[in-house]
Amino acid sequence: MEIKLKINGIIKDLTIKDGEYLQKALQKIGYLNVRKACETGSCGVCTVLLDGTPTLSCSTLAIRGVGKEIRTLEGEKVEVEKFAKVLTSEGADQCGYCSPGFTLTVIAMKRELSSPTIEDIKHYLTGNLCRCTGYMGQLRAVKKYMEVK
Ligand code: FES
Ligand code: FES
Repeated sequence: MEIKLKINGIIKDLTIKDGEYLQKALQKIGYLNVRKACETGSCGVCTVLLDGTPTLSCSTLAIRGVGKEIRTLEGEKVEVEKFAKVLTSEGADQCGYCSPGFTLTVIAMKRELSSPTIEDIKHYLTGNLCRCTGYMGQLRAVKKYMEVK
């Protein structure tokens, strides 16, 4: 099936199979930062933004992206760089496997919530798991990034 998806502001033509998920469709055309891990909707590694909302691409059919704005890490370079600086300054940079999905969720949170508390942040990030860390450095970094202009 031929479909068109708007990814990071650019319309792309894709050929997908029936029942193909968005994560696979995006990887096939080179969006390698859209990663997968659990493939059961439990870890958040595959998160992309669909009309600004963090969305699990491993369990969202590619066809559901038609007519929507899909953002991957590549489409959020300015905010990604700002957040990466804060993460590094808090010593929270580790293997990075979960970083694309985690970072997109944090960017969406910053747009949605003003001055979130640590509890608000924890709640928003419930669906993003990281195998490397005890989360404290990440939490400090997210709190700090929320104040970055
Ligand atoms: S790979 Fe999609 S939620 Fe884990
Ligand atoms: S930084 Fe390694 S899985 Fe999160």
